Amino acid sequence: MSQKTSNEMWGGRFASGPDAIMEEINASIDFDKRLYREDIAGSKAHAEMLGRQGIITVEDAQKIVEGLSQIEAEIEAGTFTFSRQLEDIHMNVEARLAELIGPAAGRLHTARSRNDQVALDFRMHVRGAFEALEQKLGEFIEALLDKAEAHAETVMPGFTHLQVAQPVTYGHHCLAYVEMAVRDRSRCRDALKRLDECPLGAAALAGTGFAIDRHMTAKALGFATPTRNSLDTVSDRDFALEFLSVAAICATHLSRLAEEIVIWSTPQFGFVKLSDAFSTGSSIMPQKRNPDAAELVRAKPGRINGALISLLTVMKGLPLTYSKDMQEDKEQVFDAIDSLALALAAATGMIRDLEVNVDAMRKAAGHGYSTATDLADYLVRELGLPFREAHHVTGRAVSLAESSGLGLEDLPLDVLKSLDSRIGEGVYSVLGVDASVRSRTSFGGTAPDNVRSQVSDWRQCLTVGGN
Ligand code: ARG
Repeated sequence: MSQKTSNEMWGGRFASGPDAIMEEINASIDFDKRLYREDIAGSKAHAEMLGRQGIITVEDAQKIVEGLSQIEAEIEAGTFTFSRQLEDIHMNVEARLAELIGPAAGRLHTARSRNDQVALDFRMHVRGAFEALEQKLGEFIEALLDKAEAHAETVMPGFTHLQVAQPVTYGHHCLAYVEMAVRDRSRCRDALKRLDECPLGAAALAGTGFAIDRHMTAKALGFATPTRNSLDTVSDRDFALEFLSVAAICATHLSRLAEEIVIWSTPQFGFVKLSDAFSTGSSIMPQKRNPDAAELVRAKPGRINGALISLLTVMKGLPLTYSKDMQEDKEQVFDAIDSLALALAAATGMIRDLEVNVDAMRKAAGHGYSTATDLADYLVRELGLPFREAHHVTGRAVSLAESSGLGLEDLPLDVLKSLDSRIGEGVYSVLGVDASVRSRTSFGGTAPDNVRSQVSDWRQCLTVGGN
């Protein structure tokens, strides 16, 4: 394939070619070749529209479309030669088209600019990323629901400040992550609504005098409508910023889950065991099982948050409309797309495989006087004490238990009676961890029945495509 230099693309205005450094700083082909499918789809839709509108002949449009199909096949087969001298994906494709079909190729760029072209390609790519994320979140949610259902009754300590607070169910804990993932998914859907406008036809920045049909290309490319303002169209990268924001929040959720897996799989906690498939060993310490996948999921916000800050910083203060600064929008977004997809797949796999040590969780749930609130609630409910006074009495019970090395449920009745003589045998039924979680039936509370009904509500909602 002949190597056209960039300046041939802009005709007779330039006497010499670019400096080697200029070529290096200017070229984006090494990364924007990832947009080839979108670029070709956009060019086909444009050529067909130009033919339909009589701006080019139908025969030329036909030749262009066929040439573009061949280029796509070449790229997919790995036989296409990408050239840095041709700067980016748009000019690489166009130059090859000229080789394949001759002068008709030169008509493709009528009523179009690389500015609306790149806005289109990138937007379509981000749309695909949002859709894939939405789908992968669905699989993650399924895995969490399966675990929640299996562990609706599994008691574990609930933590605040990473100190044992009150007993909860592991099923309820899984459902907390379902809530986060469902919000992440609905953020994808919200963003997709705003993204659903086609940039093609804004041309360089001002629109065009040719009688193009932007509604036709918008429809062909799967958009609800064309964008309304040509200046905004070629300057706008909000869709990418939104993707990175959504990705950063989602990655943050995954990192919290990953952190819990890391902590919970230590011998000190022993709440869960990661499958061999998601663990590594140590080359020197044979006893070790390292949660590498969880640690890497925990680390991903480093690069994803970095990508968000990077693009916000690139866009900040840019005057309208297109500036070459905006070429710096892609690599970070591509990296964020891939990093998040991998993190989500790993999180889903780890949750699916996770072995839960029900006994260790239950044992830990009773530590640290986790049912103290249940005792205070008993004093309020059965004896009519104001909550503040009940809190005080319970504090004394905890201190008595602590000084004799006992759990609350091990305190003899006469000791409890010394705090308030009206305390009866019935108190022991609230001091166990099972009774504690069973009693938390308030809407959104941790009771096993709540967990089961929430799981079935979610399943129903997900099968009808809700949330
Ligand atoms: N490679 C460029 C980018 O990614 C395409 C748009 C170039 N437009 C221009 N007028 N130089 O932003």
